[in-house]
Amino acid sequence: MRVAEGGSVLVTGGAGYIGSHVVAELLAAGRRVVILDDFSNAARDVPERIAAIGPGAPELVEGDVRDAGVLDMVFSRHEIDAVVHMAGLKAVAESVAEPLRYMRVNVGGAVALMEAMLAHRVGRLVFSSSATVYGLPEANPIPEGAPLRAVNPYGRTKLVVEQTIGEVVAARPEFAAVSLRYFNPVGAHVSGLIGEDPRGVPNNLFPYVAQTAAGVRERLSVFGDDYPTPDGTAIRDYIHVVDLARGHLAALDFLLAGEGAGRHLAVNLGRGRGHSVLEAVAAFGAAVGRAIPYAIAPRRAGDVAESVADARLAAELFGWRAGLDLRRMCADQWAFQSRLLLR
Ligand SMILES: NC(=O)c1ccc[n+]([C@@H]2O[C@H](COP(=O)([O-])OP(=O)(O)OC[C@H]3O[C@@H](n4cnc5c(N)ncnc54)[C@H](O)[C@@H]3O)[C@@H](O)[C@H]2O)c1
Repeated sequence: MRVAEGGSVLVTGGAGYIGSHVVAELLAAGRRVVILDDFSNAARDVPERIAAIGPGAPELVEGDVRDAGVLDMVFSRHEIDAVVHMAGLKAVAESVAEPLRYMRVNVGGAVALMEAMLAHRVGRLVFSSSATVYGLPEANPIPEGAPLRAVNPYGRTKLVVEQTIGEVVAARPEFAAVSLRYFNPVGAHVSGLIGEDPRGVPNNLFPYVAQTAAGVRERLSVFGDDYPTPDGTAIRDYIHVVDLARGHLAALDFLLAGEGAGRHLAVNLGRGRGHSVLEAVAAFGAAVGRAIPYAIAPRRAGDVAESVADARLAAELFGWRAGLDLRRMCADQWAFQSRLLLR
């Protein structure tokens, strides 16, 4: 990061898949980091693995982001200059089954966190939003000004939090925030020490492909080959998780430099180019050195044919662009998966 501040960055959900990479990049940039995580969806040894990457180690506070007492303790004991809020629940199908839990955790967590930030005069927030807020996009690539219409409870929690952040900034102009709308984060840290290790059956393509390549699963199901795309399979804007993490540092730099004061900006983080499911599967096979077995299955309800970011705003505002390509995403995901098999 360019701005050398004395304090720490608080990363809620910092032991999670994306959070661990954000923490690793912050440490690499020489920042002090405090993780707040309840380990509801993270392995206990993630902070140790982040420390093994180095330099330095994050401070760890184990607790729930909705717990006002824990938040008060964190902000009182540590000099925090900015917060990256990533703690939350993220499985679309689960959100359909348990909408109230998703509201309670995702919206309740953001509210409790912002109350504590205001009480402790911490006014810089980066929030993990999602391309899900665009619902079924009218056109691709999708600019930030596209209509917002979340089509499931998970996406609605992201929209409600974005809107609430906007209202807080309007009421308290000393507050400045960026909501980052992620497209499809994949891959892992080049060390192979941190990555996505979902519990149970993976919801996302890459962990499933990696487990299939490793022989943990027999074959991959490709959901739908009759979409209006060149090979009939759905197109996504895959972004390497390390690029995504660096996007957070660029957004923090922007906020800590005093840019965006009194504003809430929503910014896409994607590469601005899409790959079909079959292209991604072929690239993974090339990284592993053998073809990945797959079978075509019916479309999944709620999946869109294509979702690709208009990635220009992040470049204009933060000078950030995603540089790592599909080949690197596959190679790094495979390195992480291979290491998991050895543990
Ligand atoms: N992975 C994606 O494809 C994707 C896409 C768009 C947006 N996002 C958002 O990015 C954020 C991080 O996603 P991820 O993929 O790293 O998920 P993850 O589940 O790996 O990480 C979330 C972390 O938050 C922690 N957590 C959950 N509830 C908590 C609570 N109440 N208090 C404290 N900690 C809590 C979990 O233990 C976990 O470590 C989430 O907000 C998610 O909605 C993810």
